[in-house]
Amino acid sequence: MSTDSCLQSLQCHVEDYLRAYDSLGYNRFLDFDWQALPDSLARSGITELHLAAVETAMVVEDHIPGYASEYQRLFHVEGSRTDEEAWMRRQTLHFVFRWVAEEDRHAHVLELYLRHSGRRDAAALTALMIREGQKSYRAPHEIPSQLFAYTALQEKATQLYYSCLRQAVDEPVLRQVLLRLSQDEARHCGFFSHLVLDALHDGDLGTIALLKEALHSFRMPLSDMIENYKRKAIQMMRAAGGYDYREAFDYFRRLVKRVAEARTSARGSGLIELMTLAQALAPQR
Ligand SMILES: [Fe+2]
Ligand SMILES: [Fe+2]
Repeated sequence: MSTDSCLQSLQCHVEDYLRAYDSLGYNRFLDFDWQALPDSLARSGITELHLAAVETAMVVEDHIPGYASEYQRLFHVEGSRTDEEAWMRRQTLHFVFRWVAEEDRHAHVLELYLRHSGRRDAAALTALMIREGQKSYRAPHEIPSQLFAYTALQEKATQLYYSCLRQAVDEPVLRQVLLRLSQDEARHCGFFSHLVLDALHDGDLGTIALLKEALHSFRMPLSDMIENYKRKAIQMMRAAGGYDYREAFDYFRRLVKRVAEARTSARGSGLIELMTLAQALAPQR
């Protein structure tokens, strides 16, 4: 892909996203009935397992300062870049700043839910957030095509998780929160999927090899950092009716299929291999 068409395509995706969603939003303090939450919880079938799932999701979302600084490190505009690269990075950051604000609100909304629930000690919650928030985060990839594939996968996995958890609970405030969050994650996944499709359309066999590596090494964010992550991941799965984050690989397989069907070259067989890998990583039905 020439730098010009690559730049145009990226710029188009950023503009499309912001044009469609710039005025979309909600108020984390005013749009949820926080005051009614303790009574609503008492009337609901919510268990400690569900609240523990909300808490782990909140800790993962609350690491947004770490995710944001990594995206800024990787896309900041510095003197050594060509003009085209500098401009492309600047366009990417238009999306990144918006995305970061939305993710920060996810963390805050989940925190507000726990704080208003009456089921968490306020000081202990703060201590947990400080302890987890102080751990330093490193992005899993430095190469943009790999990082975008990774992020599309984790946005899809998170969207599916919030949808499944929503189906598993009957408390209306949490259901409203999870609806908002899953809608945001679906939009984020859509944006990163466009970047993955561009890489699949225009990349060479080397790009496909990079994407295979990103699939192979995929782990959910903070899986190697959060205390007792393994136990917490099992709790999250049980709380959401057996949700499996590997469903995101099936989504990825379908993305590749869209491009692979139009190819017959060596690159076409590389795409088929990438699809086969995504299929092997997805849960078997
Ligand atoms: Fe999020
Ligand atoms: Fe997201």
